[in-house]
Amino acid sequence: MASESRSTAAGAQTNALGLSSLTALPPDPLLGLMTAFRADPRADKLDLGVGVYKDANGVTPIMSAVGKAEAALLKATATKAYESPRGNPTYGEEVLKLVFGADIDAPSRKTLDVFATPGGCGALGLAAAFLKRLSENARLWISDPSWPNHSAVAKQAGLATGVYAYRRGSDGAPDLAAIKADLSAAQPGDGVIVQGPCHNPTGVDLTTDQWTQLSKLCAEKKLFPIVDVAYQGFGDGLEDDIAGVRAFAKHAPEALITYSCSKNFGLYRDRCGALILKADDADACAAAGTHIAAIARASYSMPPAHGPAIVATILSDPALKAEWETELNAMRERITQLRSTFADALAARQKARAAEAVKREKGMFSLLDLNDGGAARLREAHGVYAPRSGRINVAGLTEKTIDAAAEALATEIRD
Ligand code: LMR
Repeated sequence: MASESRSTAAGAQTNALGLSSLTALPPDPLLGLMTAFRADPRADKLDLGVGVYKDANGVTPIMSAVGKAEAALLKATATKAYESPRGNPTYGEEVLKLVFGADIDAPSRKTLDVFATPGGCGALGLAAAFLKRLSENARLWISDPSWPNHSAVAKQAGLATGVYAYRRGSDGAPDLAAIKADLSAAQPGDGVIVQGPCHNPTGVDLTTDQWTQLSKLCAEKKLFPIVDVAYQGFGDGLEDDIAGVRAFAKHAPEALITYSCSKNFGLYRDRCGALILKADDADACAAAGTHIAAIARASYSMPPAHGPAIVATILSDPALKAEWETELNAMRERITQLRSTFADALAARQKARAAEAVKREKGMFSLLDLNDGGAARLREAHGVYAPRSGRINVAGLTEKTIDAAAEALATEIRD
């Protein structure tokens, strides 16, 4: 039977069910930029937007250890049958070792659970939904500035958000007093996202002592921490980068840690992440794990298997692991060199403040203080793509493009 039609304001008949009530959303600040860049026909355009590592030829490479692991998997994989809501168990154990070190004792292991997730963002989505389950009226506190998708993930989970100022203090480290002042308004049961190494977008990281203080503050105020680790290995090295997170975990009775292998394994499109639950005791861990599994089941059922299989293959083979670490170290060193060369290029253009910041910041990103409307003018006049916030992906520069990029960016960087 044909469905009944309704009349539009203009009197015409329509079968619409309500889509016409929606207005189109603005493009995502980072993904929209990626689309616009791809559509730009200019040969000398430069993408400093979305955070992906690029080599000297401007290519995001498949890491050699990843290629070898994939070749081995192609031969060895005999089934595509489902894994489980937690995904590949070897992957889970290896991610735990990356985060907590190789020597997790058996009692501690019983207080930890780990889920493979569709990327770090999938882990954040699970974490946010879990927080909502724990505390219906929880607010999720996010640094200001932060990765724009943090607040979108909170919104998707039905969580209200609060912001805590995240700026560099006079000693170069984040201003912890300002963070604490803003979190004084947080209520017991609220969540706090704290970013691990290579803060996105500022590139300014908490010191290990600040991590400890923040952990104690969360425990005292009964704030549930979500530690977001997306760039392990891109700051000072795999172990140094995670020292603060370990210090935080040591003082946190309960926490969630979201982990991304997008950057440090170059597995961006394979969506390879993990959610780690740290509980105060084994019983609480087991119970909470059932809730996370239920949320995963209802949202995507089972995590992707390919990325975790690659990571598990690499990390459980000493030779492949060493090869991966060598390549990761080379990527980090190259970014440090790019920072230094770019800073010199800015300094040569009388942008001393920006130059000093770019040199000392960590990881892929630096947040440039651009004139109002500067990002749009950079795009139109110079083909340099950066989001409105002024965040640039330093890893998107190449030795060949640095000088032209500095020349263009200097026209919009505030002194
Ligand atoms: C970024 O911040 O550019 C990356 O984390 C990629 C993304 O998904 O936004």
